[in-house]
Amino acid sequence: MTKQKQKNLGLSAQASTSGPVECLGHKFESDAARREHFRELLREKLKDPTFRRTEGFPVGDDEDILRLSDPPFYTACPNPFLSELTAHYGKAYRAGDAYHRDPFAIDVSVGKTDALYKAHSYHTKVPHLAIVPSILHYTKPGEIVLDGFCGSGMTGVAALWCGAAPEAYRKEVEGEWKREGLPAPQWGARQAVLNDLSPAATMIAAGYTLPFDMDTFTYRAQQILDSVEEELGWMYETNHADGSVKGRISFTVWSEVFSCPECAHEVVFVDEALDKETKHVRDEFPCPSCKAKLTKDNLERSFETLIDAASGEPWKRVRFRPVLITYKVGDREFEKVPDAADEALLARIGRLPTPAALPTVAFPIDEMAHGSRIAPKGFTHAHHFFLPRAAAALSALWSRAAAETDTSTRRMLLWFIEQAVWGLSVMNRYSPSHFSQVNRALNGVYYIASQHSEVSPWYILDGKLSRLTKAFVGSKPPGVRVDQHRQLRGAASGISVR
Ligand SMILES: C[S@@+](CC[C@H](N)C(=O)[O-])C[C@H]1O[C@@H](n2cnc3c(N)ncnc32)[C@H](O)[C@@H]1O
Repeated sequence: MTKQKQKNLGLSAQASTSGPVECLGHKFESDAARREHFRELLREKLKDPTFRRTEGFPVGDDEDILRLSDPPFYTACPNPFLSELTAHYGKAYRAGDAYHRDPFAIDVSVGKTDALYKAHSYHTKVPHLAIVPSILHYTKPGEIVLDGFCGSGMTGVAALWCGAAPEAYRKEVEGEWKREGLPAPQWGARQAVLNDLSPAATMIAAGYTLPFDMDTFTYRAQQILDSVEEELGWMYETNHADGSVKGRISFTVWSEVFSCPECAHEVVFVDEALDKETKHVRDEFPCPSCKAKLTKDNLERSFETLIDAASGEPWKRVRFRPVLITYKVGDREFEKVPDAADEALLARIGRLPTPAALPTVAFPIDEMAHGSRIAPKGFTHAHHFFLPRAAAALSALWSRAAAETDTSTRRMLLWFIEQAVWGLSVMNRYSPSHFSQVNRALNGVYYIASQHSEVSPWYILDGKLSRLTKAFVGSKPPGVRVDQHRQLRGAASGISVR
């Protein structure tokens, strides 16, 4: 981290929570000791073949499961501490206990612009502010709420929000309920048991709900961005138009190269089909050579055979060519057509070996709903989804985050970096009609468009870091110090506490 940036952030690295803690009736000298104790129990449990045969058990090595987990509150597999946790934190209903609530209807479209909701994306995500009223209606403070299909864990966030909601929000809900003739809500955090078949989902849910030290996270995340810039910044340099200075690339546009069905001349899709005025792709456009009418449907795919750096085998895939670079000199943004120096730089990067941190597994194409969209274009393995420069950047970011020794900081660093995986992949479409090229992948489908924005890691992550910091700190109730707020944020994937 440069001195200037350190000063701007006004932060210093801090050790994570220290001091004695109590968990499930045991006393530990620190939170790290608590984690170690339960991690050893989980390690033993993972050796039990019956436990591993639990339906839905993730495919993963013991060490990977242990590294992700923060037991007993979060385990990246079925949680063996669940009964103990529910017995400890819950209260059984006794026969004869009266429980009655009238049915309750609520608008779930609320809160989709909330910073905390947007802190991490997930398909079919429900805003926590849409869940809070139901939890308030159906439960009392301290009671346990189960979400067996938790996805990104918004039910856990909602359970905590019932205790952390700011005064203005409480007043608004109380006013609405009064008008509806409902009894006043009982504020106070609920416990949440969060479960999902997908380890990615529970990892996101854990990031949302487990406590972490915000200052340490922010400091380390900025350090990672700075050190990756130091190591790989040369990959994102381009000569400014006047040749006097170097610009810093924000994104490079790659176009698929087709062939004309009439004259076989090459057709660089973005150059011919994109209307520079309207910024939209034209339905019909002329061949640059024979002027035949071309459409996306009558263009012929053109392939090139590369050497797959991971396997050393020939790799045939559709042709892409860089056609536009957007870069900054100081705060000013410029565009240019890639020149010989840019081409030489890309060729140099292309000769680098596949980074060790990049997964090279083959996709189960035949079992994928969208396998037929990617395999015919030549994209059959995980590493095919990343151009060499993006692969280097993602690997550098990921390996630094994964090397963090403090469990809760590491979880949040991976939570942060993981959000760049889609955006750095070839699924990120070039959308000239949008101001930002961040997260332009088509939702819910594996689709590689004919125009790709290859963004720099800083373009995608710099803003995300400041938004994350604001989202988590901004969700604290007024008058409550951030460190107290962290204590409130005690839920976990698997079980929530406090
Ligand atoms: C509609 S999403 C939930 C989204 C969540 N409400 C949120 O706000 O992020 C449904 C979830 O169910 C999970 N799922 C599907 N089948 C499951 C199963 N048999 N057991 C547990 N989870 C399952 C999926 O992985 C997915 O995350």
